Amino acid sequence: MSDLFPALVLREDDGKVAAAVEELRDEDLPEGDVTVRITHSGLNYKDGMVIKGIGRLVRNYPHVPGIDFAGIVEAADDPAYSPGDAVLLTGWRVGEAHWGGYAGKARVKGKWLVPLPDGLTARRAMAIGTAGFTAMLCVAALEDHGLTPEADSGADGDAGDVLVTGAAGGVGSVAVSILSNLGYAVTASTGRAEQHDYLRSLGAARIIDRAELSEPSKRPLEGERWAGTVDTVGATTLARVLSQMRYGASVAACGLAGGANLECTVLPFLLRAVNLLGIDSVMQPTGNRLRIWRRLTTDLPMDRLDALTGEITLEDLPKAAADILKGRVRGRLVVTLPA
Ligand SMILES: NC(=O)c1ccc[n+]([C@@H]2O[C@H](COP(=O)([O-])OP(=O)(O)OC[C@H]3O[C@@H](n4cnc5c(N)ncnc54)[C@H](OP(=O)(O)O)[C@@H]3O)[C@@H](O)[C@H]2O)c1
Repeated sequence: MSDLFPALVLREDDGKVAAAVEELRDEDLPEGDVTVRITHSGLNYKDGMVIKGIGRLVRNYPHVPGIDFAGIVEAADDPAYSPGDAVLLTGWRVGEAHWGGYAGKARVKGKWLVPLPDGLTARRAMAIGTAGFTAMLCVAALEDHGLTPEADSGADGDAGDVLVTGAAGGVGSVAVSILSNLGYAVTASTGRAEQHDYLRSLGAARIIDRAELSEPSKRPLEGERWAGTVDTVGATTLARVLSQMRYGASVAACGLAGGANLECTVLPFLLRAVNLLGIDSVMQPTGNRLRIWRRLTTDLPMDRLDALTGEITLEDLPKAAADILKGRVRGRLVVTLPA
């Protein structure tokens, strides 16, 4: 590889953020103890926000976005890594507070890296990315709080459905795939009628229109419906879902695609012992990261992962960023860097 490498660079002018592919050199990279030659990155909702300059996630420009990357170590001052090691990175505010993965190279702290798990290619690791890692965190959190495919959690004796909201998005698609593979009956909530066949192909047993959940509830408690929920939407959807959880069941709340507010009563917690589990992928301790990546290699069927993955380039990112913020991206998009 020549000294020059391509990168998507964000520059701010008069409060407006513009993105363009530029050529950078090693000496442009920020400080860190490991330099990685990046082969793949991915697109997440947060990348959309960063590229479009929404939410003041980036304070210093010029900036290289990309909250995930996978590649090969080129140089390392951290004894845990050597040149040639295959690694990946998600979280730690890389791509927000530190330059990220939309570039031929990145320089980061070694402690932020994870060795590429056995059985995963760099492309598949980035097809999973932060979104898929978060989906697995959600499923693990639900199980840590008692969810099993066999649990007799309903008054009528059946195990009950696990609900996934924002199901055709990145987190949602991976969550549907994992849960159905583990033997759960999955209800997928989506606003896109044209994605029903896609969601069934990932293993959804039932599909509901997201409008069913996005209207505020007239009552603090509705009929007990869900054995567990992975919620990527937040706002009135999360409030509505809380009022429909079965006794003792849990909601893993990881997203705000529908808004950041939450207006609800405490009655689901007090009268139905419902658990609201907060999920953060960014600052997860290394031990749990390794556990979650190991589970992804066994619990997420690779043929379904391939089926939910599309591919784009650095040049495609500004449009893809606008699309993901409008809820128009299906599943996951991998960004392939030039060799
Ligand atoms: N906590 C964490 O660490 C963490 C990590 C990753 C992601 N997240 C968050 O999780 C959410 C999903 O991320 P993602 O990467 O999966 O994004 P995504 O691919 O855009 O998926 C979001 C999905 O939400 C649904 N949606 C969009 N706008 C909506 C609206 N106004 N009302 C109701 N539903 C709407 C759409 O699904 P349908 O078309 O199927 O309805 C969309 O595909 C984001 O809020 C993201 O910030 C959090």
